[in-house]
Amino acid sequence: MSEVAKIVLGDKTIELPVITGTENEKAIDISKLRDLTGYITMDRGYKNTGACESAITFLDGELGVLHYRGYSIESLAEHAGFLEVCFLLVFGELPTKAQLQKFEDDIRLYTLVNEEMKDIIDGFPASAHPMGVLSALTSALTAFNPKPVDVKSENDMYHAVCKTIGKFVVLCSWVYRTKVGFPLNYYDNSKGYVENFLRLMFAIPTQEYKINPVVVDALDKLLILHADHEQNCSTSTVRIVGSSHAGLFASISAGVSALWGPLHGGANQEVIEMLEAIRADGGDVDKYVLKAKDKDDPFRLMGFGHRVYKNFDPRAKIIKKAADEVLAALGVNDPILEIAKKLEKVALEDEYFKSRNLYPNVDFYSGIIYRALGIPTEMFTVMFALGRLPGWIAQWKEMRQGNEPIGRPRQIYVGKTDRAYIPLDKRK
Ligand code: SDX
Repeated sequence: MSEVAKIVLGDKTIELPVITGTENEKAIDISKLRDLTGYITMDRGYKNTGACESAITFLDGELGVLHYRGYSIESLAEHAGFLEVCFLLVFGELPTKAQLQKFEDDIRLYTLVNEEMKDIIDGFPASAHPMGVLSALTSALTAFNPKPVDVKSENDMYHAVCKTIGKFVVLCSWVYRTKVGFPLNYYDNSKGYVENFLRLMFAIPTQEYKINPVVVDALDKLLILHADHEQNCSTSTVRIVGSSHAGLFASISAGVSALWGPLHGGANQEVIEMLEAIRADGGDVDKYVLKAKDKDDPFRLMGFGHRVYKNFDPRAKIIKKAADEVLAALGVNDPILEIAKKLEKVALEDEYFKSRNLYPNVDFYSGIIYRALGIPTEMFTVMFALGRLPGWIAQWKEMRQGNEPIGRPRQIYVGKTDRAYIPLDKRK
């Protein structure tokens, strides 16, 4: 017999079905609640509310487990490449060699961005934050690709995926290049995706650009680690914007804006700024741990805590290990890595953090590697967006092809009740 939940409201008892996922997660299906009782539920920040059933990413916050389509993040970070993981997330299976080669070639069909996009970029002041420019450019792609994606056509959907992945990486680099006043580079279809990103970002016409395989490997791994994370703030944004049947570029653009926030993807930039402030202040981590615990102090330990992980974020573990390896391989000695480790140690031994299950999250160490790779701090969240792109696409595709209804939450009204209009000359 299938499990049910019983709700008693006054003298009325109703039964609601329970949904059980493949990892044995349980949800009470309340889709009939209002019809049956006139009641809705309230759950600020959706801490206890499932928005959908999804087959893309599973995470267990208590155990610190993260799987993409059933494969552990550890195995994918160790053995896979970023485009391989993009294919897995979007189409559900690891690609064969031939499928991966075709995917990479088909992405190359779309790596030329319309030249008129440069007029849009030129309209931004150099002081504009890269995430704001990236969101605008991503939305502007609709102007040059106005035909909506036919989600019922696998071929049309496939090419929309390749086009988005092909163009987004170029736009991410152009955001940086215009900011620093460098000429815009073009994708080189004879080279790999991650190598291209580095060339797009850093190659200058006056000298040969040498690719460092350590940097390519580190970046490939970081992009994989950021590729999806079930219904986080920006992914939920992509899904709800797409649920109105707004286009894929418009939905991704909304996701970029949501990711920008310092409580979400913007935290990776905030972490480095926090560590640099601690270093400038003499490296006294105890003082900053005290500030983070002080309810009267708005300061938070950026890169710490997570809505779902109440244990170590598995990505943070991998990134922390990679930070040591990459900095050693590049011969970089960054004092803020030691400050980060000291801060982590002090915090993890402190009752305030232990009692609230606050651990380092994906953003705590990632900026240290980006910095060692020569990525400027203001571009860190753009790096997060580049990594998260396949997740956003996969989730948008699953939502649209699953014919999900338009997202439209309810509310409990707490404003003024009905009252008569007062003519202007009668108001005091
Ligand atoms: C990402 O959801 C995802 O999957 C996101 C992400 C992804 O891959 O998409 O993993 C990426 O966004 C990671 C998170 C990056 N953000 C930060 O590092 C910012 C710092 N962290 C916090 O702001 C906070 O931990 C959040 C936003 C991440 C989570 O906030 P919640 O779940 O709403 O938790 P909360 O704010 O209710 O905190 C619970 C308690 C509170 O104390 P009490 O009221 O119980 O006394 O913990 C405290 C908070 O004050 N707390 C912190 C803290 N985070 C939570 N105190 C100090 N420093 C912190 N960082």
